[in-house]
Parts: sequence; C-alpha cells; structure tokens
Amino acid sequence: MDDRVAFVTGGAGGIGRATCQAFSDAGYRVALTDLDADASAAAAVEIDSSGERVVGIACDVSSTPSVDAAVAAAVERFGRLDSVANVAGVVGPGPSEELSDESWDRLISIHLGGAFRCSRARSGATGRLPPRRKWIGRQERSAAARR
Ligand SMILES: NC(=O)c1ccc[n+]([C@@H]2O[C@H](COP(=O)([O-])OP(=O)(O)OC[C@H]3O[C@@H](n4cnc5c(N)ncnc54)[C@H](O)[C@@H]3O)[C@@H](O)[C@H]2O)c1
Repeated sequence: MDDRVAFVTGGAGGIGRATCQAFSDAGYRVALTDLDADASAAAAVEIDSSGERVVGIACDVSSTPSVDAAVAAAVERFGRLDSVANVAGVVGPGPSEELSDESWDRLISIHLGGAFRCSRARSGATGRLPPRRKWIGRQERSAAARR
C-alpha cells in the first residue's frame, strides 16, 4: 500500500471500473468518478467494501464546474492527487457522414475537453508537475546511484 491517489473518470463503466480495480490492486487510493453519484458509489464499494480507499464521486467531464468540484472533493478526501485516468466516453450516435455538428461538439467536449478539464483541475488543486528537465535530472541521478 502507498499513499498515491488516482482520479478515474467513467469509473462506473467497463474500462473505467477495471482501471479503478487495477489502481487499487497497485496500492493506490482511488477517486472513482462517473456521471451518476449512486452508480459511482456502488462501483466504488464493489472494489473496496470498507469505503476507505476507493470513493465514488459524481463527475460530468463535459462540465467545468462538475470536474472542478469532483477534483476538489477527491483532494479534500485523500489530501493529494497523483494520477488522472480519462476513461469517460460515449459512442457516437451513428456513422460520421450522419453526425451533426452538435453531436460532434458533444463528443469532443467529453473525450478531448474532459481530459483537458481534469488535467487543468488537477494542476489547479495540487500544483504543476515538475519541469521535465528536473525529472530527467532525477532519473540520471538514480542511474548514477545504481552504477
Ligand atoms: N470497450 C471497448 O472495446 C472500447 C474500445 C475502444 C474505445 N473505447 C472507448 O473507451 C471509453 C470507455 O469504454 P467502456 O467500454 O468502458 O464504455 P462504458 O460505456 O462501459 O463506460 C463509459 C462510462 O463513461 C461514462 N460517461 C459518459 N459520459 C460521461 C461524462 N460526460 N462524464 C463522465 N462520465 C461519462 C458513462 O456513464 C460510463 O460509465 C469509451 O469512450 C469507449 O468508446 C471502448
């Protein structure tokens, strides 16, 4: 077990739930988020019946207020947020030649906009990741220490 925390969107669905399970198996605490609060809570309990390490939170990734509130709730609950898994998604309503601009905008707002909103909220809540040069420096120091 470690202290790291994962925030997973679409966590009540097939891939999202499996992703939450994998994070939990790896020792992470997990904010399992999905559109519906009850479905999120039920999926969380299935993975962790104690309710201590996996918590269900409502989050609509197409809504900035919803994402900001869900990320804030996860940070308040667990005190940190290390990984975001953007799994929430929908299947398009039909073949591309029949897709309206409105449907396309909706797909982009969920799949692309959702990932951006979650990353932005994470950075806002917990600070920016270290600059890449420092990260490489740390890797080099680790490699040097192993030699
Ligand atoms: N299953 C596959 O073989 C497969 C293959 C390639 C890509 N995908 C894509 O991966 C994603 C997940 O697939 P899945 O099989 O787990 O689908 P799923 O339908 O089982 O789960 C998707 C979850 O996303 C949630 N969701 C939908 N809109 C949301 C929103 N606005 N905000 C938050 N949550 C929202 C749904 O409530 C659902 O629980 C989908 O986008 C899917 O198109 C799936």
